[in-house]
Amino acid sequence: FHKKTEDYQCTADIVNRRDCGYMGISAKECHERNCCWDSSSNNLNAPFCFLKQYSCEGYEVKAAQESAQGLTIDLELAGQGCARFGQDIPRLTVNVDFETESRIRVKIVNKDLKRYEIPEEALPSTESTKRRVEKRGYVFKYVESPFTFSITRVANDEVVFDSAVAGMDSLIYEDEYLEISSVLPDDANIYGLGEVVTTFRRDPRGTRQTMWARDAPTPVNENLYGSHPFHLEMRNGVAHGVFLRNSNGMDVIISPKKITYKVIGGVLDFTIFVGPNPTDVINQYTEVIGRPHMPPAWALGFHQSRYGYSSINEVEEVVRQYAANKLPLDGLWLDIDYMDQYRDFTYDETRYPQARMKNLASNLATNNQSMILIIDPGIPVVPGYEPYDSGMSEDVFIKTLTGKPVEGRVWPGQTYFPDFFNTNQTWAYWERQLRKTRDDIGANVFPWIDMNEPSNFCDGSCTKDGPVPKDSDSVPMGLKYMINNGGRQAMLDEKTIAGNAVHKNGLRLTDTHNLYGHMESAATHHALMQMDPITRPFILTRSSFPGTGVYAAHWTGDNWSEWSHLYFSIPGVLSFGLFGIPFTGADICGFNGNVSEELCLRWHQLGALYPFARNHNDIKATSQEPYVWTSSIHAIREAIKVRYTLLPYYYSLFEHAHRTGKPVWQPLFFQYPQDHLTLKIDKQFLLGDAIMVSPALYQGQIQVKAYFPGNGRWFDLWSHKCVMESSLQQQVRQPGAREEGERPERYTFLPAKAGTDLIPMSFAGGHVIPIQRPGLTIAETRTQPVSLIVALGQDGPESRKKLVSQVAGAGAEFLGGHGNTVEKIVVMGLNFGRVGGELHNTPEAPAPAGIRHPLQQRKDMERTVKRSSRVGSVKGRKQPQTVFEAEAQDPLSSSSHQ
Ligand code: GLC
Repeated sequence: FHKKTEDYQCTADIVNRRDCGYMGISAKECHERNCCWDSSSNNLNAPFCFLKQYSCEGYEVKAAQESAQGLTIDLELAGQGCARFGQDIPRLTVNVDFETESRIRVKIVNKDLKRYEIPEEALPSTESTKRRVEKRGYVFKYVESPFTFSITRVANDEVVFDSAVAGMDSLIYEDEYLEISSVLPDDANIYGLGEVVTTFRRDPRGTRQTMWARDAPTPVNENLYGSHPFHLEMRNGVAHGVFLRNSNGMDVIISPKKITYKVIGGVLDFTIFVGPNPTDVINQYTEVIGRPHMPPAWALGFHQSRYGYSSINEVEEVVRQYAANKLPLDGLWLDIDYMDQYRDFTYDETRYPQARMKNLASNLATNNQSMILIIDPGIPVVPGYEPYDSGMSEDVFIKTLTGKPVEGRVWPGQTYFPDFFNTNQTWAYWERQLRKTRDDIGANVFPWIDMNEPSNFCDGSCTKDGPVPKDSDSVPMGLKYMINNGGRQAMLDEKTIAGNAVHKNGLRLTDTHNLYGHMESAATHHALMQMDPITRPFILTRSSFPGTGVYAAHWTGDNWSEWSHLYFSIPGVLSFGLFGIPFTGADICGFNGNVSEELCLRWHQLGALYPFARNHNDIKATSQEPYVWTSSIHAIREAIKVRYTLLPYYYSLFEHAHRTGKPVWQPLFFQYPQDHLTLKIDKQFLLGDAIMVSPALYQGQIQVKAYFPGNGRWFDLWSHKCVMESSLQQQVRQPGAREEGERPERYTFLPAKAGTDLIPMSFAGGHVIPIQRPGLTIAETRTQPVSLIVALGQDGPESRKKLVSQVAGAGAEFLGGHGNTVEKIVVMGLNFGRVGGELHNTPEAPAPAGIRHPLQQRKDMERTVKRSSRVGSVKGRKQPQTVFEAEAQDPLSSSSHQ
């Protein structure tokens, strides 16, 4: 008989629906499962087919032991268990570790059987970074039945993690499904969780971030190359962080009032960082996952790449064009085109003869430039090809359950995949191959490791005769929870190798999939260090995991030559700053598709400021090197020169990142956490603490509406004019002056004609930065004189005196440390009298004429003054000859402002 559709319907709060089906389940099958059906919701997170009644009582506490360093809590399954996607694990142990004053770890494991956990070689344990302290910044509490736990920050009594979420307070712990939630405030401010192309602030109304390393041409809001189960949250100006140490596939779902983790393996192992400042959270997080590496200086220069340089002639021409057009260049990149039939560690003898490659590398070396060669992990199955033969005899490849190497298909055709968890044989093998490349081509050759999700052109496994039959691990079984791979619950072996493949150490790919690129980065880093223990290595990786920043830089993958992707690059770089991989950039001018001149100009202006700055392009796309744009080349050159001018500043920012984890690009709220208007801003960013960048991101855009955070003064970096000071900010922030919630804005003008302007950059009062005269390489730049840019804040004379002495100190340090002379000290804001009137006149203010560099300000803005005695008072140091000031009046003697 036929039941009426109504009979299938039940009501359940969308948020609390427990899934009873899978993507694409029919109403009929749902009914057969005796579940409820409601397809009327367009909320992506709400299952159409859900359990009618759901009894899941979670676990209850059986015993608890407390010590000074933490707690051990024994749990037992309550009631019948949840049986969501399999059998519940009857007994659990919760290990709570008070690791430091600001960091607590809560790890929940099966009491009776060891489950997969991320091995030490992938992510070192936190033992060495523990600091036992008397005073802890947090309190851990738990409820016995059902077991829930919470973590409260002592300083402001804020509960930062609380698994007692209404209706979802029962912990689920099964073989292939773990679920836990935590309470969120309304409209939560959450950042991180990746890798993804989306806004920087994650949508609190509904975000489903899947973690499953995936090669896809950067679709918006889908899981991509890397997996980062870490987020930072801002509440009332205070930051905390949550890291789930788990490499298995998972969905992290943000919905109103809660965040839910649905994980398909491993253990629940949370570390919570209580901040309180955003930079503290990243410092605390990178202490656990490892601090980002310090890049070699040359790598901070500009890089040119493309897929599809058809021969070495073309590549040599690129280098010539860069030089002829006086475009700075440090890294020249060769994509798979250089290889013989796309086989790693070979050279196409007609198009890229090895002798010519070697010659080019040596010419580059003479010029202090480097060559970067792409290396894909897939080793072609070709008897007689050395990397295959030795790989087989040394047993370095990932195997199927039956002990045969897993076979996939990538650029060179049929391939096997090195097992980077085999830290003996595979690492030695990899080192030998990379060493050979250096022997073949030159010491200035560095690896770009791509396709390491690992990417596979067939699903799971295939031989040259076709697909290999699926096994149980790569197909969904029954009610097994399907993570939202590809935004459509795609099978987990889609475009990668099958989950039932095994590593030499016995680990299964199901568990380690998300670690493949990370382990390849570690192996590659190890190889380079073995080959040259003194020089800092450079590696670029596509796939990443927490801790990859220790080894490698990252780019955001195959983006599009579209305006939207120019914007997305900002959240992309900012997010990787949170993930401990600050050395990140997007392909400048976009990878897929043809770029327009205007977009490519804007992209160079922004991209030259990426921590990692590389123009890269797809084989099918039209050329986009800076010199192909005849009417924009001048502006592009200036944009790149800005980067080189800022070299000593960048270098300092990377050193800070290396020491403390502090991102090179920061979201505005990192420095202005109290200013809630900054929380949603991701079209502007801070470069270090001193500079704010407000790029043009739209076609035809000739003005940028920029928000100036905080209460301090801001200067235009190009004109040196003070463009914002606190009295004005208060004015625009007064109730009534603006609509509630509207941002006080300030218009920064760009000249109408794109191609003659510089990217809007503002300088925060109270800061000093070093700059250098830009050369055509980093090496050349480093020999150039240093100058300092100083902007005074509006605090009293005391703090200004302090700043002046800091400047003198910084100058002396440069003189001493680098043997460079300090050429100029540019001081902005000595006179901040007439700013107010100016602000209101801004819409009429003239556009800056032409391009000026910090070192070439308009003469009418500057005056050479006598050397200040304070500046000159650092003993035994040669001092800068001149001090420039932005305006003529001496402020220290002036007391009337406005
Ligand atoms: C992948 C990479 C891209 C590269 C191409 C060819 O798509 O992401 O950067 O150019 O492979 O090697």
